[in-house]
Amino acid sequence: MQSEWMFWLLVADVKKHLESLARSHGSQCGFCTPGFIMSLYALLRSSQVPPTEEQIEESLAGNLCRCTGYRPIVDAFRVFAKTDDALYTGISSLSLQGGEIICPSTGKPCSCGSKTVSDKETNDQSICSASYKPVSYSEVDGSTYTDKELIFPPELLLRKLTPLSLSGSGGLKWYRPLTVKHVLELKQKYPNAKLLIGNTEVGIEMRLKRIQYQVLISVTHVPELNVLNVKEDGIEIGAAVRLTELLNLFREVVTQRPAHETSACKAFIEQLKWFAGTQIKNVASVGGNVCTASPISDLNPLWMAARAKFNIINCKGNIRTTLAENFFLGYRKVDLAGDEILLSIFLPWTRPFEYVKEFKQAHRRDDDIAIVNAGMRVYLEEKGEDWVVSDASIAYGGVAPLSLFAIKSKEFLIGKKWNQNMLQGALNALQTDILLKEDAPGGMVEFRKSLTLSFFFKFFLGVSHEIEGKKYTKESISPSYLSAIKSLHRPPLVASQDYEIKKHGTSVGLPEVHLSSRLQVTGEAEYTDDTPMPPNGLHAALVLSKKPHARIVAIDDSGAKSSPGFAGIFFAKDIPGSNIIGPVVLDEELFATEVVTCVGQVIGVVVADTHENARRAAGKVHVEYEELPAILTIEDAIGAKSFHPNTEKFLQKGDVDLCFQSGQCDKIIEGKVQVGGQEHFYLEPQSSFVWTMDGGNEVHIISSTQAPQKSQKYVSHVLGIPMSKVVCKTKRLGGGFGGKETRGAFIAAAAAIPSYLMNRPVKITLDRDIDMMITGQRHSFLGKYKVGFTNMGKVLALDIELYNNAGNSLDLSCAILERAMFHSENCYEIPNIRIFGNVCFTNLPSNTAFRGFGGPQGMLIAENWMQRIALELKKSPEEIREINFQGEGSILHYGQQLEHCTLAPLWNELKSSCDFLKAREEVNEFNLQNRWKKRGVAMIPTKFGISFTTKFMNQAGALVNVYTDGTVLVTHGGVEMGQGLHTKVAQVAASAFNISLSSVFISETSTDKVPNSSPTAASASSDMYAAAVLDACEQIKARMDPIASRHSFSSFAELAVACHMERIDLSAHGFYITPDIGFDWSTGKGKPFRYFTYGAAFAEVEIDTLTGDFHTRAANVIMDLGYSLNPAIDVGQVEGAFIQGLGWVALEELKWGDAAHKWVPPGCLYTCGPGSYKIPTVNDVPFKFNVSLLKGHPNVKAIHSSKAVGEPPFFLASAVFFAIKDAILAARAETGHTGWFPLDNPATPERIRMACLDEFTAPFVSSDFHPKLSV
Ligand SMILES: Cc1cc2nc3c(=O)[nH]c(=O)nc-3n(C[C@H](O)[C@H](O)[C@H](O)COP(=O)(O)OP(=O)(O)OC[C@H]3O[C@@H](n4cnc5c(N)ncnc54)[C@H](O)[C@@H]3O)c2cc1C
Ligand code: FES
Repeated sequence: MQSEWMFWLLVADVKKHLESLARSHGSQCGFCTPGFIMSLYALLRSSQVPPTEEQIEESLAGNLCRCTGYRPIVDAFRVFAKTDDALYTGISSLSLQGGEIICPSTGKPCSCGSKTVSDKETNDQSICSASYKPVSYSEVDGSTYTDKELIFPPELLLRKLTPLSLSGSGGLKWYRPLTVKHVLELKQKYPNAKLLIGNTEVGIEMRLKRIQYQVLISVTHVPELNVLNVKEDGIEIGAAVRLTELLNLFREVVTQRPAHETSACKAFIEQLKWFAGTQIKNVASVGGNVCTASPISDLNPLWMAARAKFNIINCKGNIRTTLAENFFLGYRKVDLAGDEILLSIFLPWTRPFEYVKEFKQAHRRDDDIAIVNAGMRVYLEEKGEDWVVSDASIAYGGVAPLSLFAIKSKEFLIGKKWNQNMLQGALNALQTDILLKEDAPGGMVEFRKSLTLSFFFKFFLGVSHEIEGKKYTKESISPSYLSAIKSLHRPPLVASQDYEIKKHGTSVGLPEVHLSSRLQVTGEAEYTDDTPMPPNGLHAALVLSKKPHARIVAIDDSGAKSSPGFAGIFFAKDIPGSNIIGPVVLDEELFATEVVTCVGQVIGVVVADTHENARRAAGKVHVEYEELPAILTIEDAIGAKSFHPNTEKFLQKGDVDLCFQSGQCDKIIEGKVQVGGQEHFYLEPQSSFVWTMDGGNEVHIISSTQAPQKSQKYVSHVLGIPMSKVVCKTKRLGGGFGGKETRGAFIAAAAAIPSYLMNRPVKITLDRDIDMMITGQRHSFLGKYKVGFTNMGKVLALDIELYNNAGNSLDLSCAILERAMFHSENCYEIPNIRIFGNVCFTNLPSNTAFRGFGGPQGMLIAENWMQRIALELKKSPEEIREINFQGEGSILHYGQQLEHCTLAPLWNELKSSCDFLKAREEVNEFNLQNRWKKRGVAMIPTKFGISFTTKFMNQAGALVNVYTDGTVLVTHGGVEMGQGLHTKVAQVAASAFNISLSSVFISETSTDKVPNSSPTAASASSDMYAAAVLDACEQIKARMDPIASRHSFSSFAELAVACHMERIDLSAHGFYITPDIGFDWSTGKGKPFRYFTYGAAFAEVEIDTLTGDFHTRAANVIMDLGYSLNPAIDVGQVEGAFIQGLGWVALEELKWGDAAHKWVPPGCLYTCGPGSYKIPTVNDVPFKFNVSLLKGHPNVKAIHSSKAVGEPPFFLASAVFFAIKDAILAARAETGHTGWFPLDNPATPERIRMACLDEFTAPFVSSDFHPKLSV
């Protein structure tokens, strides 16, 4: 009864969690939001009692968010966890414990000293980011809730199951039999039929790999396949049993059976913990996983190791049994005849002194497929005075085309005494079992081989630990070696956000909630692809090049023309206007004519009745190529002098050569830094909808672009019609991050061709893989440096060459290189600097803007040589950083002087808030005690220049309309992409008119309201558009003032009516130009930036030196954002940027078909989807994540003393990178490698593990081994 009541209560809470997410600032662009809501909803609905905080975080691990950094989502949802009765009773949270509030960051009484939000202007009180009350269970009365939902419609539950047989398009047949007999009959009739359970594998094969299956048999409801029997000798598991059910059963039996029987069950529990997200585990089946026979299946090596038996039934009903170790025959090939299916699995109990253990290393710990996994078992028996291996099985995934049973190792182990000698022998035997060729698919060969040994070593230690203290155990494990087998426990996230409120007028300065977050949490917010399709609308798909560099010999489009739903196909010859496009220089073809210069270049566009048919038809266009030599990397480009024209850049200060020659430098070091690229991974793919009006005389576009004006311009250009006849609108984006600044415009232009020529609406929405393949990424960089410094660590001279990989068109690459050059000294005062830069032309899709716009790459290279100086001098990098800091009045290498520099207060505050010296001591102590786990710490500063470095772009327009009901409609040139721009701008308008925020509305961005806008980029949009809006508001106010002064109006609406009656214009265009900036590249001097946003971050990490696994234990970020316009939104930007940066420095690796990845076709992107490209999940958020905004430093250079925030915090995640490097240094010291070593970005498990040199890497690599990276 109690649990039933609780169920109703939880269901009633659905509205609460929508509200909670909105109020906690957990929805920025909103594209991911409904997914998170549904995950939590599913958890709450299926929970008998309120879940724990861990369960809530676990339930969100299968959802991705690219904007928020997850912290506010966790905070919003953790109020549904029942952690402590006292916190969730009827006591008002505000009165709890003597007036303390509950901080949603911790779920505990707030400790950040905050009390209330004062509405007095320039009130200095610090507040907790969210002084909202957590939802109290006792406040929700389930019995009075009117719109209760039922668990499952009872009439459906009562409905008698019947077999189903359905037909689909193209002759597809789908059956749902209810008995195994019926399944076998169908299988006999259709031997090639696919059995379906969760469809997680078949669905991907059909949708992404485009495999067509004609007959599908869903066996979800077949009782014989769903058995789950606990027997005397083990467990019988039906092939259709879902992984969640299996996990639950294992969890149950380990509590009920003797411990020695459930060693294998425990291993499965651990392995399933890191296996996909809850959503997948809820539907995916055991049999589906087994029969897919993926070489990286996480479970198959365990079935093999654990002596599992597979029961197989054929169409005649005969059952045979095979050992799991004999079932896998080759790549996705199993021991099943055409007339057989897997019926069930039998897992025997383990015996006393029989141990089964699981291993897995992936790119990302959670929800990722393995790089290498393993299942290992050993059965020990007492022989004489020793423990002797009586039986063993070692199976690996990820090292062969199938789950590999290590036969030679098994043979070696049997009969051996369990001791160090056996370990050494087994490690040698394993090397003869695991044979990976240099060009093996998946790459990372040295890493994978090292992992096989590391895993066995862990297994040896694990088993030795279990038998420690038992009789005959002669060797005890050194306590520091236990670190190899300590498993990770992720505690619930603890976070704080500390800022002051500087209220100005009615709204500026308040932590207002994102204006459309309430629409976003309910899933009602509309994005481009949600625009309803008119009846005559068509869908477009692009015909793409498959070669990186080739002459087009012939195009055969007959296949497309006869494809279902086909409506039209268009190539370069059909373009009515110009085929030549480009955002800065015209160096791209909309549709390739004679030569293609990258894989994914657009050759033409197909339109059809559905998205699917358009895609299918485009895939049927056959292009014949004559291949030409391709340049794919920066090094290739330098070698071939392949640079974009006129992109050589040069900056200098002092005389570098003189300084190097003068003998002033005690040391001079030279080196090279490779910085990998990054995919934007906005959750909403690029999308445009184009239609014509008035007989084709006008063209209208709705586009998911950060630059509507660019889409307007491209479309007018390719159609050959005036810009005044083209309107582009953007309501909101599901994330942009720079990826939708220029690389969406050619997609809109491609869709405009059929729309204009056919006079029909056309929609194009890229599939995720196509979007990732063709729209460009963050530039990879190569930096070559020479640095001279004194023995004290003072840097005297810096000589740098910077190269970025632009791809096949210039796009924004030159400006990105320039910003990297501007940021190449990060925050350091260096008297002599020379920076040379060049933009490399390569045969990759054109790279483009991404948060930071080259700045992070420039700064990361700087911090690399900074850290190296510290190592050369045997000092702490933080100390070297400090003695080189710039300060007030510093003259930068491009002539700008620092004003209002807040670097020192930020650094000092960070240092004391993270207690750096203590943290360093604790880490050193930990490292002494732990041989196989190491911790590292780092503190990193940043200084980010605010302004477009191209002067003319620093202008902004706005249109403000006041209506007679007192409401205000604002339109401005900036685009809302989740960053809260519209909210901040509306706050400025509300304060300007002294009205409530709810009276101000921003509907969309439109080129016919505000023309010629710059892209929403460079972090400066709030500065510029808020100022433009304020200008318009001031104009209107000035017109209203005479009326207002005549009479005391009771409301703004009354005043507006009075003005209207007096024929006063209540609409104004506002305009803003950023003053006092300009830069001259011919002299290399000027003032490119209006001001700088400063910040600093601390990070502490722990790495597993045997596997390269890492986690961030703590991160503290402090930013100077002046007097924030909206501190809650700004904190959201800081957190989101930091986690996105963490992805860049430690998780996200782009793998291209190049010399580093010969197993990928040349020029193709291997990592083109969430399966292979891993952005951070909720479990990658630092365990402790503190963000604070510097107090008491107004910025005199921007509106209402605020500062820009979007890009500056991104680089601070490099604190995680350098903390990882710090930890690796400690690991290398264990084997006597104490010098500096290069570590490329991102520091993935592969790079971490291979840098931690030890006896398990030694057989495969030399000490200067450098894992490959596409740069
Ligand atoms: C997002 C995601 C994350 C994933 N993460 C992991 C992971 O971390 N580790 C991992 O190991 N795997 C992972 N997978 C793969 C996943 O485990 C398997 O896809 C899943 O277990 C297959 O089960 P299913 O019921 O969905 O199979 P389906 O897609 O329904 O079927 C898969 C195949 O099995 C065959 N089959 C099913 N039952 C039988 C039977 N009784 N007899 C003969 N053939 C049969 C089907 O014909 C089909 O060919 C992931 C998949 C996704 C989509
Ligand atoms: S708010 Fe999560 S992806 Fe944008």
